[in-house]
Amino acid sequence: MSVETPVVAVDGPSGVGKGTLALSLSAHLRWHLLDSGALYRLVALSAMRQRTALDDETTLAGIARTLPVAFSVQPGQGVRIDLAGDDVTRAIREEHVGDAASRVAALPAVRANLLERQRDFRTAPGLVADGRDMGTVVFPHAPLKLFLTASAEVRARRRAAQLSVPENSATFEKIYSDIISRDQRDASRTTAPLKPADDAVILDTSELGIDQVLRQAITLIVDRGLQ
Ligand code: DC
Repeated sequence: MSVETPVVAVDGPSGVGKGTLALSLSAHLRWHLLDSGALYRLVALSAMRQRTALDDETTLAGIARTLPVAFSVQPGQGVRIDLAGDDVTRAIREEHVGDAASRVAALPAVRANLLERQRDFRTAPGLVADGRDMGTVVFPHAPLKLFLTASAEVRARRRAAQLSVPENSATFEKIYSDIISRDQRDASRTTAPLKPADDAVILDTSELGIDQVLRQAITLIVDRGLQ
């Protein structure tokens, strides 16, 4: 019997620190990294560039199936993402692309067409998979599933700090309300809604720094004999 390549699933809502944890973990373990949110963002960006409506499920599913994307690790700088040869690493992080990604991610045919592409990332020696449904749908047998949480207010403050937005401003209120509405959309969709797998370990990061979260994750990985 072959031993399956291990996967650590890292799920949770926007702005909870999943991306930072997944990147640090994959660097620490020297495992591959799947940023599944980037795939939904790429579908959204492609659709907007070719003026496809964000509810045109058939066309969007076609975009998801044929997405000409290349991920390349840039040591010390994260991952560079090219779409049909165009560097879109920054473009896909814009707020309006994130919002559009959340809309296209609600479409079952888009999710179905990204499924195998995500599973293909599972190659030796291991994979850290970051998203919303890594532990529930994409890798339901992952030997370790982490689900990160933090209050919407803490997440809004972190996002505002990244953007140098003061906390008592209208922009801050907008960031906060956008987080709430994106959470609602991600958690209430019928296909693969955002929720922890039954066997996920819940880590509340509201009061923790990235180093503490990383240490807890590594302890769990070692305890489970994954490394
Ligand atoms: O993690 P992120 O902000 O880059 O994700 C962008 C959007 O994609 C998010 O609003 C929800 C969606 N998404 C998803 O539905 N399933 C995933 N596995 C990852 C992201």
